[in-house]
Amino acid sequence: MKGFKEVPPEYKAISRKEVFREFWASARSQKRIFFLLLFFVVLQGGVVGGSIWLVKTALDLFFENKDPKGALFLIGALFMATVMKSSLEFLFNWKKMLTIGRIRDELVVKAFRDLIYNPFHLHIRERDRKKYAWVLTDAMNFIESVFGMFNSWVKQPFVLASTICALMVIAPFLTLVGIVLIPLGIPCVLFFKRKTKEFIAQRKMLLGMVEEMVSETIRGIRIVKVFGLEEREVKRLQQTVSQQRKINERNAFFVGLMSPVSEFLGLLGLAVIIFVGSQDILSGAFTTGTFFVFIMSFLNIYRPLKDVSNGIMKYQLALDSGRRLIILRQNAIKERKKSGTVPIEHFKDLRIEKLWFSYMEKPEVNEDYVMRDLTLTIRRGERVAIVGATGAGKSTLCDLIARLYRPQRGTACVNEIPLDQIKNQSCKKIFALCSQETIVFNNTLLEDIRIARPEASREEVLTISKAVGLTSYINSLNRGLDTWIGNRGVHCSGGQRQLIALARALLQKPDVLILDEAMSGVDVEMARMIWQNIREGLPGCTILVISHHWHLIKHCERVVVLSEGRIVKDTPVEAIEDTGRFFREFHLEKDGSVR
Ligand SMILES: Nc1ncnc2c1ncn2[C@@H]1O[C@H](COP(=O)(O)OP(=O)(O)OP(=O)(O)O)[C@@H](O)[C@H]1O
Ligand SMILES: [Mg+2]
Repeated sequence: MKGFKEVPPEYKAISRKEVFREFWASARSQKRIFFLLLFFVVLQGGVVGGSIWLVKTALDLFFENKDPKGALFLIGALFMATVMKSSLEFLFNWKKMLTIGRIRDELVVKAFRDLIYNPFHLHIRERDRKKYAWVLTDAMNFIESVFGMFNSWVKQPFVLASTICALMVIAPFLTLVGIVLIPLGIPCVLFFKRKTKEFIAQRKMLLGMVEEMVSETIRGIRIVKVFGLEEREVKRLQQTVSQQRKINERNAFFVGLMSPVSEFLGLLGLAVIIFVGSQDILSGAFTTGTFFVFIMSFLNIYRPLKDVSNGIMKYQLALDSGRRLIILRQNAIKERKKSGTVPIEHFKDLRIEKLWFSYMEKPEVNEDYVMRDLTLTIRRGERVAIVGATGAGKSTLCDLIARLYRPQRGTACVNEIPLDQIKNQSCKKIFALCSQETIVFNNTLLEDIRIARPEASREEVLTISKAVGLTSYINSLNRGLDTWIGNRGVHCSGGQRQLIALARALLQKPDVLILDEAMSGVDVEMARMIWQNIREGLPGCTILVISHHWHLIKHCERVVVLSEGRIVKDTPVEAIEDTGRFFREFHLEKDGSVR
């Protein structure tokens, strides 16, 4: 089960103090409630101890002194004490839940903010994006574990201490016998506990694997159906499930043994106590009431004791989840510090010089780089096509310009200002990136297009939709622009999703429009119309087009050819019009519509 409990070295660098300071930062606003909880705990401890003494005295009055009136009075007092104890328990739990809820909500939002402010490359590198849901679970676990620790290491010790004090008062010797007996059973209990913990952890991991597999299959159900992979998927699940069965079988023995063994040990302890206690009754050192109360209270010690030992688990969980949250915070802070401060009103030129970029954290040889010594200048108003074979680095270049990544070496400047130093808002205003991967959110069509400029009016959205050829699609929808287009745009075709993404980019009215295969799913006639509308709607806009299709490239003035992260050709579009070799060499599709 390698990997399940692996703690990356950077997590270990975070001290416990830092983790609990992190907790206090979120919990400080609830300071008064903590004191209130502490007050309830102390009070409850007192009531528990007091009740033991009350029951013993009542029983003695009744059985020994034959004084039913006094006994009734004491039983009344006991009733009051029980009501008090239960009320305190209720108040404690209620206030605790409210406090946890408040702190947890704040922490979850904070963790989510840190997550989305983390550097983009971390999100991309993380293959299992589902893991990010753990960030939110971490936030919840963190807060709940700290409160769990409060319960284990503050509340329960009070209950234990007051019970033991009361028992010491009524039967000191027997209490000492009990205190000696308890540690004898601890190693055995700890052994079973460790085994159960391992079992739960392994099962949790396997369940996660099964869940992951099922969701992967459902996400890729189209491929499963197209390739007839149904049985293969069933076999894959069977393998995972049988792995689970082996773990079950291995642990069933210990897990099955745990309860009888602890019951047996408990009864053995009880037998010793009954034996010692009965000697005291026979010798007259003890009343029956004392003995009865002792046994009752002694049996009740088990739960608080168990809770105290569970504190270790909660402590570990709090530490682990807290550390992960802190790492996330530190990365987000670093990222924010790096964001530039120089505002830019309009784009004049983009100059990329000797730029090197690798997706690897520590690239060593030239081959580790995707962009290699790339130099490129693009001036305001130019329409530049970037072409090249699959994997040449076209999309990476777009992402670098849109500042999704930072180059390891070299510079990229807009208006002579390094991209890194430019204010985020300016960058977002200047560049609009229409990526190869179109994402449509679970929203209405109107809101989905408007994410680019939330203040845009409905009319503006309609005009832009018309410019990108979305009108007939909108008209075909029951509720037009207000139609819910479903999770990840499942209700639209691939081409329609691209048009929505285009509409968003145009609504932004950028100075530089980057179209990374943005019209690959759009038919030739529609693409021609969109081009014309872009040129009319955004006059003077600088446009970068990444495409393998000549019918899109031919609208540009310049063609830049990328190969293995280097520019191997930079030529006016006229110069390539007639050379068929060029099309073959750079994997371009020359359709019949060449001008
Ligand atoms: N997130 C990533 N992590 C690691 N390597 C990546 C990542 N994205 C792309 N690459 C690699 O970087 C290289 C350039 O990829 P890029 O997506 O820029 O190519 P491209 O020219 O856009 O190709 P295509 O025409 O297929 O879209 C490829 O070799 C690819 O395998
Ligand atoms: Mg690409």
